[in-house]
Amino acid sequence: MMRYFILILCVCKLQVEAFDWFNRTIRVDLSTNRESLARQDEFLVNSERSLNGVNATNGQYPWSILTVAWSKGPESWIGIPCAGSIISENFALTDIRCTGRESQPGPATVIEAFVGGVLWVSPLPTPKYMRHYWYIEPSAENSPNIVLLQFHERLTYNPNIHAIRLAAPGNFSYEGWASLSLGFNTPVGDFSAQLQFISTSIPNNNACTFAGNLANHEMCAIEADAGDVDGPIRRFNAFSGGAWMTFEYGDVDYHATLVGIHQFQYANATSSLGIATRVSPFVEWVEKLTAEADA
Ligand SMILES: *[C@@H]1O[C@H](CO)[C@@H](O)[C@H](O)[C@H]1NC(C)=O
Ligand SMILES: *[C@@H]1O[C@H](CO)[C@@H](O)[C@H](O)[C@H]1NC(C)=O
Ligand SMILES: *[C@@H]1O[C@H](CO)[C@@H](O)[C@H](O)[C@H]1NC(C)=O
Ligand SMILES: *[C@@H]1O[C@H](CO)[C@@H](O)[C@H](O)[C@H]1NC(C)=O
Repeated sequence: MMRYFILILCVCKLQVEAFDWFNRTIRVDLSTNRESLARQDEFLVNSERSLNGVNATNGQYPWSILTVAWSKGPESWIGIPCAGSIISENFALTDIRCTGRESQPGPATVIEAFVGGVLWVSPLPTPKYMRHYWYIEPSAENSPNIVLLQFHERLTYNPNIHAIRLAAPGNFSYEGWASLSLGFNTPVGDFSAQLQFISTSIPNNNACTFAGNLANHEMCAIEADAGDVDGPIRRFNAFSGGAWMTFEYGDVDYHATLVGIHQFQYANATSSLGIATRVSPFVEWVEKLTAEADA
């Protein structure tokens, strides 16, 4: 009940903001006929520390994907691995830096997506490719990090491949809700990526003092059963682009809902652990773009 009350109050303000999201939407076309290079000439840069969560089992979070954004250097391809979430048969959501737009030696020209598994080991199997992605151009005062990726081919759903529902549009804060953070544990050494989850809870933005000032379209989370490790609030390590999800009561039962996208961090970063972009303010943006692409 409270939720719908909040939504009604915010409609006018959000419509203005929604225009702004659309105006700053940029589409990037990717080359998908990638030259095949031997995998030993390629390397992956860890986008973040390992998650140190609980290993997921097959089919437990079937919307989770592993993405690698590849940039071509003089002698090798350099890839940034990230997590993402399937939201329809041909779209996924992730963080903007998971597209490799800031990669060295240059912006990524290919994004691969590995779907339907919880453990990926080198050599990686044949991936699905991304054909386009859209992102929202950042601005100084407001820099949303959310990115929509379009698959080259539609996915066929099965028990290991399925979409997650988006949070309801609007400004519901999820304050006080239990949540899960999904991401891949990527041990140093031979590349392997194991999907993991960590139990977290979502406080008021003001409680996440480690994060500095969060914008309204961002959120923080804390480890659910944390000790007093990093001060009163314990940060946790997750994996760029990974889902922050809750379970909401629907018509018949509880269903998984995507409420946040874990923001990108470098492996040694300390400034932004436990921060996500809220999904709710962008649902209208996502629905408009996916409808246009499918038209
Ligand atoms: C969204 O909610 C936050 C806190 O709950 C509030 O500070 C902010 O002004 C709201 N934004 C809109 C657009 O209503
Ligand atoms: C965004 O586009 C709408 C519709 O074209 C326009 O009315 C609005 O002023 C634009 N907003 C900005 C911030 O450019
Ligand atoms: C989690 O998965 C990794 C990779 O498959 C494995 O090495 C590790 O032993 C697993 N941990 C547990 C507790 O099962
Ligand atoms: C942390 O990572 C960034 C980005 O890779 C790098 O520029 C910086 O030198 C690193 N800092 C340390 C202390 O390793």
